[in-house]
Amino acid sequence: MIIPVKTASGGYDIVLQRHALDRLGDFIKSETKTLLVTDDGVPGEYAAKVSAFCRDCEICVIPQGERSKSIETLTFILQKLVDGSFNRKSRVIALGGGVVGDLAGFAASVYMRGIEFINIPTTLLAQIDSSVGGKTAIDFSGIKNVVGSFYQPSKVIIDSEVLKTLPRRQIANGLAEALKMGLTCDKELFEIFEKGDPTKRIDEVIKRCLNVKISIVEKDEKESGLRRVLNFGHTVGHGIESAAGGELLHGECVAIGMLPMCSSELRLRLKPIYKKMGWAEFARCDKEKAINCCFKDKKSYGGGNTVTVRCDRPGSFEFRDTDRDELAELIAMAVK
Ligand SMILES: NC(=O)c1ccc[n+]([C@@H]2O[C@H](COP(=O)([O-])OP(=O)(O)OC[C@H]3O[C@@H](n4cnc5c(N)ncnc54)[C@H](O)[C@@H]3O)[C@@H](O)[C@H]2O)c1
Repeated sequence: MIIPVKTASGGYDIVLQRHALDRLGDFIKSETKTLLVTDDGVPGEYAAKVSAFCRDCEICVIPQGERSKSIETLTFILQKLVDGSFNRKSRVIALGGGVVGDLAGFAASVYMRGIEFINIPTTLLAQIDSSVGGKTAIDFSGIKNVVGSFYQPSKVIIDSEVLKTLPRRQIANGLAEALKMGLTCDKELFEIFEKGDPTKRIDEVIKRCLNVKISIVEKDEKESGLRRVLNFGHTVGHGIESAAGGELLHGECVAIGMLPMCSSELRLRLKPIYKKMGWAEFARCDKEKAINCCFKDKKSYGGGNTVTVRCDRPGSFEFRDTDRDELAELIAMAVK
């Protein structure tokens, strides 16, 4: 299935097809000089398939984990591009999760003022969320995603077969973002979680999430309004994520962070889903630290009141101005 994405800065196609990695010739050219960026946690068999297809391909393997979204790893990739005499007609292919995609996309966006970028996401989170929408970034000076660009890929290739090697915890991590999209924008997606096991209907979950994300980024490419709905659960989630000191995955923090943003009726419906998915309802971390981390995060983006996304019933949302005291109360609800 080909899903077109149209944004003000240009359009591209998302290929959503099982075994797409074995049929790359149907979607991209083989002769373009390629720097393939992947990490050492992504099974080598996937990189082998891509590099076997590309006639002129250099593989750049970075260490797995968020720490690689750094200026040092960016320099490492840019050096590979310079040393390998990559030019304006060359391309970068990202093969990995959101870390590889954000970093390689940013490298492609700045090298020679922008060369072709293709994203082949291999985590569920990257397939349903980070590979679409054109946000690229690295972390800098201790602040997540603070240096980056909006840069659209020329193609996104999603092969859900690669999820077979992804650890269960990482699958659940991606599903938290999928539930976020169901809760705010797609009632039927929410019902997939409520009535059964979303991992059994993973292709449908991916497709529904892509439809939600595309409809949002097409209307608001650069996050001036509507796109903020994708931050549902993230304000509190980020505070917890920093305070928990790396013990919890991003999606696990978002899952916890969504609960205070829901009506009490909806929270009751969510309880069995969280149990089924293995997500905690509260974070075990220092409450004050979580509150401080959240405010520090907000301060670096302008301070003052913030806008939070609330959900009273599945498939709906509203934006609400939230002051410091209320935000502290919401965080307190999420921490034990
Ligand atoms: N650009 C955006 O719009 C956007 C949106 C959401 C999140 N993000 C970013 O995404 C990043 C998180 O991405 P993530 O959750 O994909 O984490 P990740 O990229 O760190 O990947 C998680 C782990 O899975 C491993 N892995 C990847 N594919 C695998 C596979 N098929 N089989 C086995 N192991 C595999 C990786 O080696 C890594 O250890 C964060 O940096 C976040 O800021 C970006």
